[in-house]
Amino acid sequence: MPHAGGEIRLIDGGVLLCPLHFWTFDSASGDCTSMPGERLLFRQVSVSNGRLIAFESDK
Ligand code: FES
Repeated sequence: MPHAGGEIRLIDGGVLLCPLHFWTFDSASGDCTSMPGERLLFRQVSVSNGRLIAFESDK
């Protein structure tokens, strides 16, 4: 069962936690640290004039 859209939260040390199934993810890569082979969708982002811009990922 892949991550199904729970609200990801930054908990500490660059670790992201999904509260639905308690999976953890590396915030730099999106790789799941509790379920090998799973990952979050990863996008580069920037802020421009107060707006968050997300770029399409090639991963
Ligand atoms: S919804 Fe299950 S890990 Fe995020």
